[in-house]
Amino acid sequence: MNGELRVLFPQIKTKNTFVFETKLFSPEDKLIMAPMQNLTGYLFRNAYNKLFPNIIDKAITPFISITHGSNCFSKRKFRDVLKEHNTSKMEIIPQVLGNDINAMIEIAEALFSLGYKEMNLNLGCPFERTLKKDRGAGLLSDTKRIENIIEGVINKIPINLSLKLRLGVEEKDDIYRLIPIINYYPIKNIIIHPRLAIDKYESKVNLDCFEDVISKVNKRVVYNGDIFSKEDFNNLKLRFPTINDWMIGRGLLNNPLLPFEIRSNEYFQKEEGVLALHAELLKTAKSVNKMKEYWSYFSKGLNIEEDKLSIIYTCTTLEELDKEVRNIIRDMTKV
Ligand SMILES: Cc1cc2nc3c(=O)[nH]c(=O)nc-3n(C[C@H](O)[C@H](O)[C@H](O)COP(=O)(O)O)c2cc1C
Repeated sequence: MNGELRVLFPQIKTKNTFVFETKLFSPEDKLIMAPMQNLTGYLFRNAYNKLFPNIIDKAITPFISITHGSNCFSKRKFRDVLKEHNTSKMEIIPQVLGNDINAMIEIAEALFSLGYKEMNLNLGCPFERTLKKDRGAGLLSDTKRIENIIEGVINKIPINLSLKLRLGVEEKDDIYRLIPIINYYPIKNIIIHPRLAIDKYESKVNLDCFEDVISKVNKRVVYNGDIFSKEDFNNLKLRFPTINDWMIGRGLLNNPLLPFEIRSNEYFQKEEGVLALHAELLKTAKSVNKMKEYWSYFSKGLNIEEDKLSIIYTCTTLEELDKEVRNIIRDMTKV
């Protein structure tokens, strides 16, 4: 880790006979940064990597939207995946959202020309607008259409194809119908976020279904969903010992030091790490609202009270926000 983060004493506690603070993360395990539109783009990834190199193994980018006839190479569209914006060692997998076969082939070729070896297809975005356009999770109820897309694309593109899936739109039958297709085609891997699209982010993740699905697919599976603490990770690792790929989204934004906690037996003083990341993000932040969005997550991990958070939300400039954030953290860390 760059910088001097103070290491606190290790805490061991027991619950249901398992020792959760024991490290269950093994050398085979990989941590993957989840794609989060407007949050985990290249500026965030670079800031994170600069401060905490080699702690996250790879990142899937927020989706690039593909639409018929609009994919000629444009620097704006590909800004997030341009190599000059992605110079860290972290492996980057570009993600696309759409349903047009020719457009997907064009994008894959463009990504190949940028040096990428894998493209991830979003079959999980749950928002109404996306569902209505038969994109993201909206495709999950139409198994034949997904098969046509995979069949039409997979042997025509110079890079590997992976999928990021929910269990279904309204019912988990959707993913079960997809299993023979996942098993038949040479898909690189699948990321499963075990919720339905209608559940958005609220329901409990369906671990029983996840367990059943992974016993039926012959591809490498990445687990994604609700890893907010080391205890969450350890519970999942105990239940799914064959899984080695773990994608973390909101948990990483809430607590950017979570990957350290998962990987080690040490506990870190979060405030210093988050403040360092805040300072790094501030260097490239284009608006105060962007920083407020990050603080809506950081505040959860640091347990910042509502009234203090509302001070951050009322800031109108980056300088003001920086000052208030530092005041809040200083008060919190005062002994
Ligand atoms: C604000 C926000 C933006 C997201 N953007 C994307 C995206 O561009 N592509 C994608 O596949 N998933 C996206 N997701 C879903 C996450 O990648 C992840 O699957 C989900 O948050 C569950 O993981 P978590 O519990 O670790 O956060 C987004 C989620 C949130 C909350």
